[in-house]
Amino acid sequence: MYLLEKPVVILGIESSCDDTSAAVLIDGKIASNVIANQDIHKDYGGVVPELASRAHQQNILPVVSQALKLANIEKEQLSAIAFTRGPGLLGSLLVGVSFAKSMAMALNIPIIEVNHMEAHVLANFIDNNYNKEKPTFPFLCLTVSGGHSQIVLTKDYLSMQVIGETKDDAAGEAFDKSAKIMGLPYPGGPIIDNLAKNGDPKAFSFPHPKVDGYNYSFSGLKTAFLYFIKNKQKESPTFIENNKEDICASIQSTIVDVLLHKLEKASDDLGIKEIAIAGGVAANSHLREKLSLLEAKLKWNIYIPDFQYCTDNAGMIVMAGYYKYLKKQFTDQSISATARYSI
Ligand code: KG4
Ligand code: ZN
Repeated sequence: MYLLEKPVVILGIESSCDDTSAAVLIDGKIASNVIANQDIHKDYGGVVPELASRAHQQNILPVVSQALKLANIEKEQLSAIAFTRGPGLLGSLLVGVSFAKSMAMALNIPIIEVNHMEAHVLANFIDNNYNKEKPTFPFLCLTVSGGHSQIVLTKDYLSMQVIGETKDDAAGEAFDKSAKIMGLPYPGGPIIDNLAKNGDPKAFSFPHPKVDGYNYSFSGLKTAFLYFIKNKQKESPTFIENNKEDICASIQSTIVDVLLHKLEKASDDLGIKEIAIAGGVAANSHLREKLSLLEAKLKWNIYIPDFQYCTDNAGMIVMAGYYKYLKKQFTDQSISATARYSI
């Protein structure tokens, strides 16, 4: 008679910003991924840290229960709990970290701390619909979200190096702030994406920031955009209304061109054609179109996680946790959350 080996079952918890999320992984596959968004921030035009932390406290227990239930797992079956340690909003992180530590202590199982930015990259190892293959090492990952814009040289699951990053605003912020200047609601990225579909990307041109190496900067673009809109409104107060789609298409294409220019340079310099993207901005349809063109032109292999694993989610946290579990990289109960945490 053979003894069946017990499956590896890990619970993942994410609470770094304004999404409370829990996911269950069974033997390397995601079995559930539950995300509770916090609509409350819409009224404020951005994330309010104090409100985010309070909402995490309300959401965490139901979100974890739901994730276990959807995966058909009893908490006693868990092998370990993985959680986001940072970077992020401290008050938000503390909720997930404390919850994970207490639950693991009660169940007497190990805990695994995860870097949120590493997890965004590792979301590319979750089964997806875009490219059924998984990236091979080394690959470059363009991680573009509301808080970060990075090019990450990924040498192995747990061996990464940030080779370029933004010096100020992130790409998602550039979208959201441009939308705000136009009087559009928060978060503006998806709204700009939608309006741009019927616009001309060459209608207006904006300056491309000049930054060294593979780094980015988006704050100058934001200022240029603000003055462009103000000046045009002086000539015609209905400028935005009359040109909404063209303005969105033009600013979107500028942001995407800036992102891809540095990515292309890094790929060329390092001779790496395995290219992954991650983060909320990876949902942008113009970015995806341009990447498909480059895939054909430069013989790149492109990898994009499904949308639920691009925006903040615990699926990516538990995936990162799994690779650490295999290497027995556990941590002890003295661990605490950290707002700044580089790869
Ligand atoms: O990864 P994410 O959910 O949260 C952070 O970790 O920040 O990313 C959110 C960002 C927001 O700035 C949002 O406007 C942007 O991703 N975003 C988009 C699109 N969908 C989400 N930006 C451009 N086009 C989209 N379709
Ligand atoms: Zn994120």
